[in-house]
Amino acid sequence: MKNKFEQLKKEASGILEKIETAEELRDFEVKIFGRKGKYNDLVKELPKLPDKEKKEIGRLANEVKKEIEKMLFDKKQELEGEKLKNIAKEEWVDKTLPGKKPELGHLHLTTQAISEITEIFERIGFQLRRYPEVEWDWYAFEALNMPKDHPARDEWETFFIDAPESKKGKMVLTPHTSSGQVREMERGILPIRMMNISKCYRRQSDVTHVPMFHQFEGLLIDKDVSIAHLKGALDYFAREFFGPLRKTRLRPFHFRFTEPSFEVDISCGVCNGAGKINEEKCRVCKEGWLELGGAGMVHPNVLKAGGIDHKKYNGFAFGWGVERTFMMKEGMKIDDIRILYKNDLRFIRQF
Ligand code: DAH
Repeated sequence: MKNKFEQLKKEASGILEKIETAEELRDFEVKIFGRKGKYNDLVKELPKLPDKEKKEIGRLANEVKKEIEKMLFDKKQELEGEKLKNIAKEEWVDKTLPGKKPELGHLHLTTQAISEITEIFERIGFQLRRYPEVEWDWYAFEALNMPKDHPARDEWETFFIDAPESKKGKMVLTPHTSSGQVREMERGILPIRMMNISKCYRRQSDVTHVPMFHQFEGLLIDKDVSIAHLKGALDYFAREFFGPLRKTRLRPFHFRFTEPSFEVDISCGVCNGAGKINEEKCRVCKEGWLELGGAGMVHPNVLKAGGIDHKKYNGFAFGWGVERTFMMKEGMKIDDIRILYKNDLRFIRQF
């Protein structure tokens, strides 16, 4: 029995010497000290010994165990030391490599356009305002010279809110930023130079319409304001936003809340307003001009609704779609407005 333990110790030390990896060491440990390992096999035989040997052999068994454990421990240290020695060769870092940049997002295209438009108008004294998107019929229509049941309202394809009416009529999702005009007048501070940018809603969805879109609305109220002032402001915007060669043109139109009313066109950036390139019709505009949006001189009835004396004050207003205006930038070949809100990263990452 004594010999068997001595033998086990010798055997262990012989094998340990040859072990080279942590894995081998683990296997070996199981073979010796595992439940069915060699050491346990020997210990199981102890009870069979005569009593006087039991004590001596028992002590020996303990000693052998401790010694083998010590050998295992030393071997483990040795292997780890080697691993650390080699780590410089196996695992190294090239500190001169450029770091990995965390991916940064950016503002949505519409938000970028809104900031740019706001900045351009701020430079000529227009202050940014935001008026409610959930609005009373009064501000969206009636105060803008569109009485109830007036057929002109049809154009605005309005969403109505299922809520109790007030003195100001039904509640709607504002279909245009013009609803901010009378709200601004009600503040009672004159003169007015307002830029109202907000979400607008209409029941429309096709390549040129989304049900939720943005408009920006300029309103200027002062004394002796003329169409020339309006034209000047629009030309200034066209140059700043689209480029120095762009011009605007006013085409007579009809809106209930302006008199006279215009549609504003901008000279096409592709053919420079000529309508053709090398005798061929320009594919973008066909006639040299692109339609931007509405404008006009504020109707006296609107001034009255806002509590302003229309004999002393007058002014101009204009209201355009942000997305539409943005899509007319040079080189912006967006042929379906809905892509702006599809959240397709392949599209969004280009800007
Ligand atoms: N609110 C009009 C629309 O949504 C656009 C508009 C036309 C705004 C003429 C104006 C304006 O301020 O003067 O179609």
